Amino acid sequence: MAKPLNIGMIGYGFMGRAHSNAYVQVPHFFDTKHTPVLKAICARDEAKAKAFAAQWGYESIETDWRKLVARKDIDAIDICVPNNLHAEIAIEAAKNGKMILCEKPLAMNAAEGRKMVDAVEKAKVANTVWYNYRRIPAVSLAKRLVDEGRLGKIFHYRAKFLQDWTIKADLPQGGQGLWRLDIAAAGAGVSGDLLAHCIDTAIWLNGRMDTVCCMTETFVKERMHNLTGKVEKVGIDDACIFFGKFANGSLANFESTRYARGHKALYTFEINGENMSLAWDLHDLHRLQVFDYRDEGKIRGWKSVHVTDNSPDHPYMDKWWVPGLAIGYDASFTHQVADFLTGLDTGKPASPTFRDALETQLILDAILDSAKSKKWVEVPKA
Ligand SMILES: NC(=O)c1ccc[n+]([C@@H]2O[C@H](COP(=O)([O-])OP(=O)(O)OC[C@H]3O[C@@H](n4cnc5c(N)ncnc54)[C@H](O)[C@@H]3O)[C@@H](O)[C@H]2O)c1
Repeated sequence: MAKPLNIGMIGYGFMGRAHSNAYVQVPHFFDTKHTPVLKAICARDEAKAKAFAAQWGYESIETDWRKLVARKDIDAIDICVPNNLHAEIAIEAAKNGKMILCEKPLAMNAAEGRKMVDAVEKAKVANTVWYNYRRIPAVSLAKRLVDEGRLGKIFHYRAKFLQDWTIKADLPQGGQGLWRLDIAAAGAGVSGDLLAHCIDTAIWLNGRMDTVCCMTETFVKERMHNLTGKVEKVGIDDACIFFGKFANGSLANFESTRYARGHKALYTFEINGENMSLAWDLHDLHRLQVFDYRDEGKIRGWKSVHVTDNSPDHPYMDKWWVPGLAIGYDASFTHQVADFLTGLDTGKPASPTFRDALETQLILDAILDSAKSKKWVEVPKA
């Protein structure tokens, strides 16, 4: 008999939908001892919460997250709200003994992140942060190839996350849908929103980053604020470019912007080792590009591996369809839920935990410090 895991979700936006879909899919595709139960959805607007509950099958609603985290029938709190609410909710949920699945970035900054790590570790509650790109099969395959030592010594890691949706100077900041432009809700701009993903994947694949040197730009300096109705200074970084050095000696080269006309969500990374290079592109997410220098010279070249074999060769794919049939972005969340549940079943927590995600937060703080001081900055130890 599967053990129910009663989920209380806060926020019903983009991530609320992505996570709800994952909870629904998991028991149909994965064999885990725990099964998610959609127990309650929390949103401030009662009518919208009821409509969301009806659409996804939540048993009940709350309009105040504090009531939700205190409920005896909830096992796990899922935090799908803007970044400025993550810490307060997570700390209160931990005090109430709840497991926590928190959206990224973990916090507004590392100081807040540390408090969250302390809270979950003190309460001894299972926890994870939704850095879901780790669980796209082609990205998980890259991790396997790196861990098998196939790349040899690693020289370079470069990543980009490019979008183009904030170019219009009359786009307002703040409130529903536009909180990402509001420093008070987001904590940072493209660094915390987009580079956070790139950094998480990078340190997972290539280990700790020691030092960084960064430049940011805010192209549109003032925008009307939806909550105050006034034109206000824009506090977020619109673009962020940084260099760095990993503890293994390799060089980091990262760029993110919402001003790259023509790019919707172009998350790409490339890693170059002495024997092998790997490259991945979110717009073609089921492929991993592999170059192996040890291949026979006359046929040596980049291979485009379609990561869809339903054998253990291709991570997660044995749970889905037949070879050649791709799965999508949504499946990365399903995989994260499945791994979280397996962590509960086995007692070996799935990464990234809050503590793992704190490392990304420390790098984010360091790059913004560097941009401000115009100096290289050492990343403190977690
Ligand atoms: N893992 C990923 O790939 C990914 C993608 C997008 C967003 N995110 C993260 O997910 C979080 C949410 O982002 P989103 O895109 O879903 O935002 P969204 O704007 O689509 O949804 C946010 C939700 O939070 C609700 N909300 C705000 N304040 C609330 C409160 N006090 N009580 C209850 N509900 C409240 C809003 O009503 C809305 O339903 C952010 O931290 C973001 O960084 C992660």
